[in-house]
Amino acid sequence: MTTLKLPGLIDVHVHLREPGGEHKEDYASGTAAALAGGFTCVLDMPNTTPPTTDAERLQAKQALARSGARCDVGIFAGASTDNANSVGQLAGSACALKIYVNSTFGPLRVDNWTLLDQHIANWPATKPIVTHAEGDVLPRVLEIAHKHSQPLHVAHVATRLEIETIVAAKERGQQVTCEVTPHHLVLSRDDLPRLGPLGDVRPRLASADDRAALWHYLAYIDCVATDHAPHTLDEKHGPQVPPGLPGLETSLPLMLTAVDQGRLTLDRLIELMATAPARIFGLPPQAETFVEAEVGPRYQVTGTKLQTKCGWTPFEGVEVAGRVTKTVLRGATVFDGERVLALPGTGQVLYMAAS
Ligand code: NCD
Ligand code: ZN
Repeated sequence: MTTLKLPGLIDVHVHLREPGGEHKEDYASGTAAALAGGFTCVLDMPNTTPPTTDAERLQAKQALARSGARCDVGIFAGASTDNANSVGQLAGSACALKIYVNSTFGPLRVDNWTLLDQHIANWPATKPIVTHAEGDVLPRVLEIAHKHSQPLHVAHVATRLEIETIVAAKERGQQVTCEVTPHHLVLSRDDLPRLGPLGDVRPRLASADDRAALWHYLAYIDCVATDHAPHTLDEKHGPQVPPGLPGLETSLPLMLTAVDQGRLTLDRLIELMATAPARIFGLPPQAETFVEAEVGPRYQVTGTKLQTKCGWTPFEGVEVAGRVTKTVLRGATVFDGERVLALPGTGQVLYMAAS
């Protein structure tokens, strides 16, 4: 068994569901899951109810995070069909702008090229733009970002076509970064018969060849991000299956298992899960913050043992070889390997105006 000390991990793509989806997750439960997974800072997506599309909603969400969060949280602003001329005002207090070009859970979507052009042109260069742009729309989104000299971060790259599009853009010198999820690195559509609705996610689980392409081009991938998107088991087994999977507590165990198998180095894991996220999103350093983990002993993932309110995982029963044994945030032990010790309200909300 090897005992490791890692920096506090950063997840640049989570859905903590407040406000409006508290039965799935909230700041207190989602950040408990983060700390148990070795994450000390998470960036929270804007597809809440209501979506985070104006200053009032962003401030209301920051206040909720202020009282609930146990780790540090940055909050995304969301691009909508009617805020292309105003959302830029949120750049000071949001962690980044999220533009959904493809449809997914929630109403946020910018599906017209003129509007997308305006959003990309207007967003201040001080904070990143993140896009959900799958498959054949990705080249067009990259072209618009290039036209406006805007750096672009592409969320959850899942297919060979997408990663090869990004590789080509990087080789042309475009300022583009991207993330992959552990579920797209580990699962494929071959797992769908077994997973049923629990495997329904956007982007969809892809082919084994797509998954192989993500590993092949790992050198071009900037971050691993979970896209932690909890829904209740009742919702996942209901008539209208919402897409999305929880991932905060399985990400590091799965990635450490890949290290154990020799699929990537530990240095590369740290780059993907801490250093590059901090650099791309310009996040403030966290003093005296680290994670202890062990690699070697194998155990099975169990959904009911997780901190996430949804209480399930698509990796149920999967054997992993990595475990978080301690998380320390600003000198305090916030997870001891069994229990989350940080109280709600002890996390910091990034870019929040003093009140
Ligand atoms: C996400 C959700 O449930 O909020 N679902 C998903 O399948 N990934 C939305 C998203 O990020 O696309
Ligand atoms: Zn997402």
